[in-house]
Amino acid sequence: MTDYFQRHLGAKLLLSYLAIILVGVVVLIVASQFILPASFNRHMAGMGMMMDGMMGEQGFGSSNAMSQLYIDFRASFNEALMYAALAAMVVAIALSLYLSRGVIAPVRAMSLATQRIADGRYDERVQVHGTDELAQLAMRFNQMAEKLNQTESMRRRLIGDVSHELRTPLTAIKGSMEGLMDGVLPATNETYQQIHTEADRLNRLVDDLQELSRVEARAYQLDIRPLDVSSLVQTATKRLAPQFESKRISLDLELAPDLPRILADEDRAVQVLTNLTGNALQYTPEGGRIIISAKQIGDEVQISVCDTGIGIPPEHLAHIFDRFYRVDKSRSRQSGGGSGIGLTIARALVEAHGERIWVESAGMGQGSTFTFTLPTAK
Ligand SMILES: Nc1ncnc2c1ncn2[C@@H]1O[C@H](COP(=O)(O)OP(=O)(O)OP(=O)(O)O)[C@@H](O)[C@H]1O
Ligand SMILES: [Mg+2]
Repeated sequence: MTDYFQRHLGAKLLLSYLAIILVGVVVLIVASQFILPASFNRHMAGMGMMMDGMMGEQGFGSSNAMSQLYIDFRASFNEALMYAALAAMVVAIALSLYLSRGVIAPVRAMSLATQRIADGRYDERVQVHGTDELAQLAMRFNQMAEKLNQTESMRRRLIGDVSHELRTPLTAIKGSMEGLMDGVLPATNETYQQIHTEADRLNRLVDDLQELSRVEARAYQLDIRPLDVSSLVQTATKRLAPQFESKRISLDLELAPDLPRILADEDRAVQVLTNLTGNALQYTPEGGRIIISAKQIGDEVQISVCDTGIGIPPEHLAHIFDRFYRVDKSRSRQSGGGSGIGLTIARALVEAHGERIWVESAGMGQGSTFTFTLPTAK
């Protein structure tokens, strides 16, 4: 029995109402015990005097009649008290039933829904009635379920994407090995080189994925300090000097004079810049041009990497930072291109600084400009 009361909010409510009624009744009984006789006598004495005056000698005030009257009065008082307590109890039961339906039913529905979500049914939702706290809770609950649903479908898509990306180089390696074993492919240096290239691509993909998961999970600490933009640019371009040379691409720096220092994690900022410049190099034909510029706008510095390369068609601009997104999948593969993670990492790093990154391109063959912001050091 106590167990039942402990486990049911409705029963607890009813119990608390009954307790209040009980206290009320007890207080009334005790009060009537002590106050009622005296008060009754006082009133009757007053009335008796009035009646005596009106009706002469034998009257109302005789003590026998008085005590009989008191007994009758007491009985009718107790009867009234009993009816009142009964009525209060009926109201208490009705109220607790009503509240059970209004409060406990939604809570129970949410509890069941939570159970189903825990079992992996992320499309579970509860009904929202009204605007009170319970309705708000239900609304928040639905929002949470929606988020979980999204996360779950993202996780599924990610696994699908990753296996798809892994399959391509693996298929190539397996095909070459089979060709070698069957004697269809000659055991030349070139064949081995091909296999090595694919293995290398696999390696890079796994490294990129690891970096992406680290960056997206924020499993690193930003070491924010004041930095010189020009030394940042220098570090990034020095790393890519061989590519600039081999593709005969010229580099122009347009750094505004008296550029303030910026507040950023040096390694991460260089990583973003290297990433963007690496892309510019990759997607710009030989003999092209890359301009890295920086200017102050308000309390931010905007750093841009602009190229004269193949450009990006407008319909792709919105997706370019998505994971595994490539404008031309087949071409980027043939040209030993990447896996479409570079920009996703760059964006996560910039956003970790609380800043923005975006792309502009007039279209195919019109070059592209990638810009990101970093805060100035005060
Ligand atoms: N400067 C650019 N000019 C034209 N297209 C670009 C440029 N930078 C990026 N892109 C397009 O955006 C896509 C995504 O770029 P991202 O850097 O994320 O991936 P990726 O370069 O293909 O591979 P990786 O993960 O190795 O960097 C590229 O595949 C390319 O189609
Ligand atoms: Mg890239």
